[in-house]
This record gives sequence, structure tokens and C-alpha cells, in this order.
Amino acid sequence: MEKICVMDLGSQYSHLIARRIREFGVYTEIVPFNIPLKELKSMNPRGIILSGGPNSVYEAQSPKLSMDFFEYVIKEKIPLFGICYGLHLIVHQLGGEIIQSDKKEYGKTELQIIKKDILFKSLNQKEIVWMSHGDQISSLPEGFQVLAKTNTCPVAAFKNEKLKMFGVQFHPEVRHTINGGKILSNFIDLIVKPKKDWILEDWINKKVKAIRERVGTNRVILGLSGGVDSSVAAILIHKAIGDKLHCIFVNNGLLRKNEEIQVQKQFDEKLMFKNFHYINAQELFLEKLKDVDDPEEKRKIIGHTFIEVFEKETIELEQKFPGIKYLAQGTIYPDRVETAQTSISAAKIKSHHNLTLPENMKLEIIEPLKDLYKDEVRKIGIKLGLDNDLVNRHPFPGPGLAVRVLGSIDKQKLDTLREADSILLEEIKATNKYEDLWQIFCVLIPIKTVGVMGDFRTYEYICSIRAVESIDAMTANFAKLDWDLLEKIGTRIINEVKGFNRVVYDISNKPPSTIEYE
Ligand code: XMP
Repeated sequence: MEKICVMDLGSQYSHLIARRIREFGVYTEIVPFNIPLKELKSMNPRGIILSGGPNSVYEAQSPKLSMDFFEYVIKEKIPLFGICYGLHLIVHQLGGEIIQSDKKEYGKTELQIIKKDILFKSLNQKEIVWMSHGDQISSLPEGFQVLAKTNTCPVAAFKNEKLKMFGVQFHPEVRHTINGGKILSNFIDLIVKPKKDWILEDWINKKVKAIRERVGTNRVILGLSGGVDSSVAAILIHKAIGDKLHCIFVNNGLLRKNEEIQVQKQFDEKLMFKNFHYINAQELFLEKLKDVDDPEEKRKIIGHTFIEVFEKETIELEQKFPGIKYLAQGTIYPDRVETAQTSISAAKIKSHHNLTLPENMKLEIIEPLKDLYKDEVRKIGIKLGLDNDLVNRHPFPGPGLAVRVLGSIDKQKLDTLREADSILLEEIKATNKYEDLWQIFCVLIPIKTVGVMGDFRTYEYICSIRAVESIDAMTANFAKLDWDLLEKIGTRIINEVKGFNRVVYDISNKPPSTIEYE
């Protein structure tokens, strides 16, 4: 398969760049900027994109590329595309000059294309682009040509035809750059011209075959949460090995209303998984969480209890079905490859909750989705017959409603929250707005306020509605939902849910707030 590499120089958008290019049908991977050259060569990239980054080339600790890297791309004629800081690095390291401008550009800016080029094919002479920089180019290395400028930035894009190097000062990968997708596709289709062989059908067939060969006559267990990733992992493995897959679904009492029924229906009834094991552990979880109000403590207890339940079930299954050798997980690409932070040493692999394993469990790991993005996982889920509803679900935290009932938890508070949340979901789904949101949910704030219902005074908890838009949960904006819709939801919750007499709407963004409350 032909590959594009995105060299991560600390940009928060590296995954976004890679995802965009995969959408063109070309396999793309993120690599750290300091990847050993030997390793990079072994990947045989057809094109390389240098991401942006928050640093300045003049900071001693800022990420730099080796001159061997430049020699390699020049010798092999590998097209190179620098974005923002990536563009600065090309210029700085090849003999041009970067200066700290007193005029910082941030936000939407008008770009003026001053030289027609295939990079800008089908674009207008003036385009709206997204800028975010302090430094800028004051002189280009020899052989480089200016392609575009803005009012404050004389070199907003360049190329070196002979060296196949291109660069833009703005961010084509973000949607505020109106024709940014076109610029990326011009780079890929007209300059790199790789084979478009990243096809999900092929991927499914190859993966199914590989899983079948690897597992052989053994068995696999998988903790099914009902979320997209574990569901798609399950259905893919099931296609490969059928009933040799054992799915364990734990009802921890912290699920949304009717979630356990939906998941059972999907896997047990619709997809006919013979070995779908439903464990009702609600009481155990609630008992262990009783009177615990510290968020971290709650998370810890839930994680440990899950492992306890899962291990117990696995041991019992092993006795009934000898040959359980593998543990499958729904880890996806962004869980595994965290992009670099601002410091030079920060290119690291995140230890994600999906990767935490029971220590004494001697099972080999299968992670069939480990190279995929969420949207690719969703497409595969649909192709393999998962319900749309399940595939397009919003993310739901592992600790479930435990982090949405603030402070200590009991069944009554959980039931109250479940009712309100199901009204909220019903109403938002009826408006077709659900899929535009990253998440929408209710939170129980355990503070009582006074209300009046008919002739009676009430004294009940507060329900907060949280709705956010986001691309990767790193940052998020509260969604500006329609007032009438909010009024309808609020009225229904107060009228229909015993336990709430006040509904508030959360207008905080991330940062500085987080999406969840605990
Ligand atoms: P925050 O609250 O940090 O959330 O802005 C970012 C995203 O992560 C989800 N989240 C979790 N997911 N286990 C999970 O599986 C957790 O403990 C957890 N905490 C937060 C959250 O729903 C949001 O999408």
C-alpha cells in the first residue's frame, strides 16, 4: 500500500491532516518528527507533510529535522509539504530566514494568490484561510518561489519546483480555510500522485483473513461496552471466527436508559452472536461506590471492579471453553498514537483506558482497529451490519453515569438522571441535530433548589444540560442550541422526571472547562 507520512511537529491538527488524506483513499500515518531516518525509509513514504506546531525555529528546544532527512527527500524526489511551523523549518534549515513579526496573524485572513500553481488549482485568486502564527518568512532559500501573500505576510505560500517542496503559512486542514481540502487534494493528486489503494472493503477482507489465521482453533474474549469501537471490533472478529468469539457485556448499573437491552438485541438477537455473555453486576458496582464522592476514587473503583468481574467471567468461560488465548480490544489509531506536545521529548504513546489489562491475565492481545480513525471504524461498522444508531453514537465515558451524577452515587439519582437523559436524547434526535454534536447529555447536580409545581412547593436537584461541538475532544465549544428546543427539553424534564425541578444550560467551552463534569 502506498503511504503518506505526516511528520508531527507538535500540532494539535496532525490527526486531522492524516484523516483528511485518508479520505482521498491514500493510507496515511503520523510519525514523530525525530523518527530515525532508517525507520522512515523503511516506510517508503510517497509524500511527506510537515505539520504545524506551536514553537519558533529560534527556540533552542524547538523540534528540528536532520539534514539527512532533507538529503533523503531530495535524493528520492519525495514531495514535501510544510504547514505553518513545517514551512518555517524548511526555510530555516535550507538557508532562508524567519523573523518574529510584530504583527501576529490569528484567525481568518484573506490570502492573495500571486502566482498560479497546481497547488492552488481550482482556487480563486483571493481565498479565506486560517492563520495562526507569530513568525514569518523574511527571505526564501535559493530556488524557492513565492506563490501567495496576505496583507501582513509577504510569503504565505512557496514552492521549489526542482526539489518538489511546497509550503503554506496557513492551515489548509481546518475547515475555516474554505478551500483547504482542495489544496491538500491538489498536493496529493497532482503532485504526489500515489496509488489510491486505501479501500475499506479490501481492508476488511484482509483483516478477517489475518484474524482467522492468527486465532486458528483458539478462542477470543472481548469486553463489549456497546460503544462503537468495541462493537465494530466484535463484529469484525465474529466475521472471522464466528462462535469462537466470546463477548462479555457487563451491566455496571451506570449505563444510560435501556442501553443493556439495545446491546443485547443487537448482538444476541440481530447479529446472532452465540457467545454473547451478559453479566448483571449492577449491585456489586453500586455497593462498592456507596458513599464515595471523590471523582478519581470513583473512576478507580469502577476500573478495578470491571477487571474483577471480567476476570471472574473469563475464568469460568475458560473452564467451559478451553482454548481462550486472546483478548480483543477496540483500540483505535488516536488512542495509540498521541500527537507530540510542545516539548521535544513529548512524542509518546498514551496509556489509554483501553490498553489497561488485568496484570495476571496471560492473554495475547488482538487490536484489529488499531490503525483506523473513528470515521473509518464507523464505515466498517455500517458495512458489517451494525445499526446506524449504534454506529453514530456519541462517545460515552468508561465510568458512565458515575461521572455525571456528581458526588456520591445511588440508584435513585442514577434513575433520575437516566430519565432526563433519555428525554434529552429523544428530543435532540428528533431535530436531526444529534449527529452535528460531539456529545449531548444531562448531569445531576446534587444541590436542591426550591420550585413550585401546581400548588406545591418542591425542593429537588438541578439538571444541567451539556452539549458540545468538537473534532477530537481536545477542545470543544458549547453548542448554541435553539432556545425553543432548549425550552421544550427543559419543560419536559421538569414535568416528567421526578427528582428535578430546575434545568440549566452549560455555556462553558473546553478549555478552560472539560466536557465531562468529573
Ligand atoms: P473531558 O471531560 O476530559 O473529556 O473533556 C474528553 C472526552 O473523553 C471522554 N471521557 C472519558 N472516556 N473514560 C472514557 O472512556 C473516561 O474516564 C473518560 N472521561 C472523559 C469524554 O466523554 C469526552 O468525550
